Amino acid sequence: MRDVNSSEITDVVISTMDGTKDPRLAEILEALVRHAHDFVREVGLTEEEWASGVDFLTRTGQLCTPQRQEFILLSDILGITMLVDAVNHRRGGTATENSVQGPFFRADRPTPAAGADISGGLPGMPLFFEGQVLDERGAPVAGAAVDVWHSDGEGHYDVDVPDLAQPAMRALLTTDEEGRFSFRSIRPASYPIPGDGTVGELMAATQRSLMRPAHIHLIIEADGFQRVTTMLFPSDDQHLDSDPVFGVKQSLIADFTVHAAGAGPHRTSADEAARTVMRHTFSLEPLRPAEH
Ligand code: BEZ
Ligand code: FE
Repeated sequence: MRDVNSSEITDVVISTMDGTKDPRLAEILEALVRHAHDFVREVGLTEEEWASGVDFLTRTGQLCTPQRQEFILLSDILGITMLVDAVNHRRGGTATENSVQGPFFRADRPTPAAGADISGGLPGMPLFFEGQVLDERGAPVAGAAVDVWHSDGEGHYDVDVPDLAQPAMRALLTTDEEGRFSFRSIRPASYPIPGDGTVGELMAATQRSLMRPAHIHLIIEADGFQRVTTMLFPSDDQHLDSDPVFGVKQSLIADFTVHAAGAGPHRTSADEAARTVMRHTFSLEPLRPAEH
């Protein structure tokens, strides 16, 4: 192939991959080349702009370590993470919807008893969380594994709290015969996604807010059901409509009811402070036949 001109080059590049054995890989590569070439033609990309894009992606990769994944963050703020999820998990009816997992899940989380305090003794407004996991017909799902994790009242996860010896504000719980799980912790706050890297540059250039609304992350897994990776947002958060990672769904907004000192449930003598009580029902969908 010689003298390939700009209107022929897309088909020529695609034809060089005719020998691809895996049909799905062939489909993905063909679409990737077609869309990338159309993108270059559509915006009339200059050499300086292409060099700047390569530099941006190079620096994004250089920021990645076992602790930090700038590419996933880039996927999050471009809406790709949520789009991939939406394409793969079309939940119907009242099934609990997915959201982004984010970077703060830790496998070394404790497995406390129901109702235990998982705050690690950190200060903050007490939060009492009572959840129930049901199947698509409303029957309890016993023995479901429920991961929870969240930030403190200043928007910091345990990994960013100095001098914390043990994981805090996270736990792996198991639902009882009625599908219930519960824990005590502190009320989380909104916080910014990392803004000191290439994603931060992009967010600043486009004048977007880094602030995620406050939330509690959950992953729910049970035999025979689709895994749910989700989060719950307090309905009074001011950042619900500008989440930089597009994770907010109406069905995931919940009342984190605040009870004044001396009033409402979960009063204990040690506890005469305002407290948040959060009750939520989760609904799982059965695995599709191909997933069994
Ligand atoms: C989080 O909620 O933990 C998170 C999600 C996406 C990007 C950054 C943080
Ligand atoms: Fe988070």
